[in-house]
Amino acid sequence: MRILFIGDIVGKIGRRMLSEHLMKLKKEYGAQVTVVNGENAAHGKGITKKLYKEILMYGADFITLGNHTYAKSEVYELLDSDVRMVRPANYPEENPGRGYDFINVNGEKLLIMNLQGRSFMPAIDCPFKKADEILANNEATAVFVDFHSETTSESIAMGRYLDGRADAVVGTHTHVQTNDEQVLPEGTKYITDAGMTGFKDGVLGIRKEEVIERFLTQMPVRHEVPEEGEGILSGVIIDTKTNKIDKIRIEEKRAQPQD
Ligand SMILES: [Fe+2]
Ligand SMILES: [Fe+2]
Repeated sequence: MRILFIGDIVGKIGRRMLSEHLMKLKKEYGAQVTVVNGENAAHGKGITKKLYKEILMYGADFITLGNHTYAKSEVYELLDSDVRMVRPANYPEENPGRGYDFINVNGEKLLIMNLQGRSFMPAIDCPFKKADEILANNEATAVFVDFHSETTSESIAMGRYLDGRADAVVGTHTHVQTNDEQVLPEGTKYITDAGMTGFKDGVLGIRKEEVIERFLTQMPVRHEVPEEGEGILSGVIIDTKTNKIDKIRIEEKRAQPQD
């Protein structure tokens, strides 16, 4: 099975990059299923009903989320419906949404699971034990995990923990693509972070000025997500048959200064 995964879509530029490149990438890599992390789709925080539809319209088959899942309350109802979207499974059970789902990919049953780390993140349930719980007695023929995590150590530990039990463990959340894509000893295709899709010349998809000011002053400064500018698209393509994982990175070129 060929799984195309695109990392955190940030705001309007992220959505534009998806609209311009996703169909071409699916064709180029022969992807049979496409999963997109949409936790920052709505101007950097959360996702709305409209944007859920928009991301699927661009060619995504399924959406994963993260710590910004609950930023927009209008999406709670959608999360509880028969939707092609999961939120981290280790949030409280009663919260809106579900943490995993199965989809049919050319006759195979793919389990898509979303988990969230706990290092420098909200103190939710243990993602490792939650993964065990979900993987026990499931009848999936393939397993894809989006592990939304801040620290490289927790991500790598999760990759190793699920090695041989998941076909792919792909990290999200840091917005920085790591250079460690690999096939782990028991066959799990792994990367610590797939990277983000959005404004290229800022800080993690956000305009740099306010972020720098916040670091300088240590005071609250409202972050701005630019709506115009050059974009970057980041992700991975995973092939469970040939046992491969490759990074994908598309960067729009900076306009050269005119003389
Ligand atoms: Fe994110
Ligand atoms: Fe996040």
